[in-house]
Amino acid sequence: MYNMLSHTHSGLRWLVLVFLLLAIVTAYSKWSAKANYPAGKLPLLALIFTHVQLLTGLALYFISPKVQFTAATMKDAILRFYTVEHLSLMLIAIVLITVGYSRAKRQAPAAQGHKTIFTFYLIGLLLILVSIPWPFRGLGAGWF
Ligand code: HEM
Repeated sequence: MYNMLSHTHSGLRWLVLVFLLLAIVTAYSKWSAKANYPAGKLPLLALIFTHVQLLTGLALYFISPKVQFTAATMKDAILRFYTVEHLSLMLIAIVLITVGYSRAKRQAPAAQGHKTIFTFYLIGLLLILVSIPWPFRGLGAGWF
C-alpha cells in the first residue's frame, strides 16, 4: 500500500506540472486575445490532478516513515522537509490554485477569468516547483 501510494504520488507530479503549465500558457494567450472565459478544460484538468495529488499526499502523510512527530524531527533535514515544509507549502499552493479556479468561474464570461487563472496558477506552480523533493536536493526522492 505504502509503495503503491508513494509511486503514484511521485509519478503524478509530472501530470500536475504539465497540466498546470498548459493551463498557464493557454490562459495567457486567451487573456491576450480577450477571449471569453472559460475556453477549454485545461484549468479544470489541472485542478483535478492537483487535488488527486493532495489526496495521495494526505494518505502518505499518515503512513510514511518520513513523517514523524518526535523531538528529532526538526533537527533532521529529511524528516523536517516531509513533516513540515513539503506539507505546508504544497497546501498553500493547492489553496491558491483552488481559489483561482473558483474566482475565475465567478468572473465568466469575462476575459478577466483567464488573467485570474494565469496569476493564481503561476504562483501555485512556482510554490510547487520549489517544494518538490527533486533528486538533487538530497531528500531521498527520485525523478519518478
Ligand atoms: C501538487 C502537490 C504535490 C506534489 C507535486 C508532490 C510531490 C511529491 C514528490 C515528488 C515526492 C517524492 C516521492 C518519491 O520519489 O519518493 C513527494 C513525497 C511526499 N509527499 Fe508530496 N507532493 C505534493 C503534495 C503533497 C501534500 C499536500 C502532502 C501532504 C498532505 C504530501 C505528502 C508527501 C509525503 C508524506 C511524501 C513522502 C512519501 C514517502 O514516504 O516517500 N505531498 N511528494
